[in-house]
Amino acid sequence: VDATSRSNRAAWEAAATKYVRESDQILEAFGREGSLQPVELAALRPVLESGPDVVHLQSGHGLDDLHLLELGASAVIGVDFSSVTALAAHARAGSKRCHYVIGFVPDVPLMDQCADLVYTGKGALIWLPDLDAWAREVHRLLRPGGLLYLYEAHPCFSLWSWHPDVATVRQDRSYFDATHVVDSFPGHGAVEFQHTVADLVNAVLKAGLELIDLQEHPEPFWSPAGVAAAAWRGRLPNSVSLLARRP
Ligand SMILES: C[S@@+](CC[C@H](N)C(=O)[O-])C[C@H]1O[C@@H](n2cnc3c(N)ncnc32)[C@H](O)[C@@H]1O
Repeated sequence: VDATSRSNRAAWEAAATKYVRESDQILEAFGREGSLQPVELAALRPVLESGPDVVHLQSGHGLDDLHLLELGASAVIGVDFSSVTALAAHARAGSKRCHYVIGFVPDVPLMDQCADLVYTGKGALIWLPDLDAWAREVHRLLRPGGLLYLYEAHPCFSLWSWHPDVATVRQDRSYFDATHVVDSFPGHGAVEFQHTVADLVNAVLKAGLELIDLQEHPEPFWSPAGVAAAAWRGRLPNSVSLLARRP
């Protein structure tokens, strides 16, 4: 594991207690509705009808896992490198069909071909230095015919300023930078890895997965409380979704 990923793990552990507390509030707010977002629901409802075994990479607070089970998943295994987060998700799940593993993506301590669906995103890929290695790991975990579904921040999301009235590009960021230091959550000096849309698509294809669907969306999957940036109001790409299959 590279040094940046090790210090990112420390940053996530330091932020995890707050993240866990906030997820409890999110759960209350979602209530029975579940935490999967409309874009995800549109893609996942038909997939979940067949009762897939799901592996959720970088599962975080795990709220989505409960929703995946409710919509038909047979079982969900979440993988996260934060022990605080994984243990909290485990305690909350309270379901024999939902388990958590503490592990580093892309070196996931699970068997080959254990998943019909690998689900991930919403702040996951920015923590991975090597998307090619990630896509190869997704391929390894999937059974033939299995699906990868990703709903993620668009690579441009971190370029937009949070100006409330004018959609502008931050002067301190470039689409083609390799990394930047996070100035919002989780803080603690965490470093995000930047990947272009082309990096993502090429990684998936090089790993031997078939691309089924790629979409760019105007809405961000996340926005900090109390911030309403002009860049998030429909004119610019803020999230991306991808569906791929292991042949
Ligand atoms: C922003 S959260 C998003 C996770 C999930 N989608 C959610 O909504 O809670 C990112 C999660 O990825 C985990 N993480 C970051 N890099 C990781 C890695 N290389 N391996 C495993 N987990 C990682 C962090 O601990 C954190 O829980």
